[in-house]
Amino acid sequence: MGTTTACVLGISGSLRSASTNTALLRAAGALVDPAIGFRLWDELATIPPFDEDHEAEPPDPVLRMREAIDGAAALVIATPEYNGSIPGQLKNALDWASRPYGDSALTGKTTAVIGASPSDYGATWAQDALRRSLEAAGAHVLDTGVAVPRSDEAFDADGRLADAALHIELGEAVWTLTTAMTEKEGLCDVR
Ligand SMILES: Cc1cc2nc3c(=O)[nH]c(=O)nc-3n(C[C@H](O)[C@H](O)[C@H](O)COP(=O)(O)O)c2cc1C
Repeated sequence: MGTTTACVLGISGSLRSASTNTALLRAAGALVDPAIGFRLWDELATIPPFDEDHEAEPPDPVLRMREAIDGAAALVIATPEYNGSIPGQLKNALDWASRPYGDSALTGKTTAVIGASPSDYGATWAQDALRRSLEAAGAHVLDTGVAVPRSDEAFDADGRLADAALHIELGEAVWTLTTAMTEKEGLCDVR
């Protein structure tokens, strides 16, 4: 595949400045081999509400998001859980990315889903819902995931997962993602 700024793109479903899901993505990104490269996409708040009237000529923020997704060989998406599912802003962005029908930016994209929440369950319902939507949009969603429970106390001062077992699980998910990505796309060059 061609050169990109990073082969793995991280998308956080939370807009909160102190987001634990963004922290989880940063922790995942730190585990990606520098030769592969990780970039956090932080423009979720710029994406307007989906409007099917404009899907053929989407607004600029949506074009930029599509460019970011197109330029990545793999995605890792961290989702909070809002009322048992994914936040509206994340679903909205994925709906834009999936359109027009037949031209989804997500088609075949190797993707891992992770999530954090302050409950005992670590956003597992949201992760299930996210996997379902991504699969409907054509992504290749890996059978791996990390559920971080009690997220408000899950990270140490360096932004690492304080629980060693969870830290290892995150490393395994990153490994699974980058291995699947390389098997599918070949070696990905980082600029
Ligand atoms: C509208 C709303 C609904 C929520 N519903 C759930 C829920 O169903 N399950 C859950 O575990 N947490 C729920 N929460 C708590 C979020 O998981 C919590 O705010 C979390 O920290 C958000 O992720 P972040 O730290 O990445 O922003 C909800 C929060 C909001 C704002």
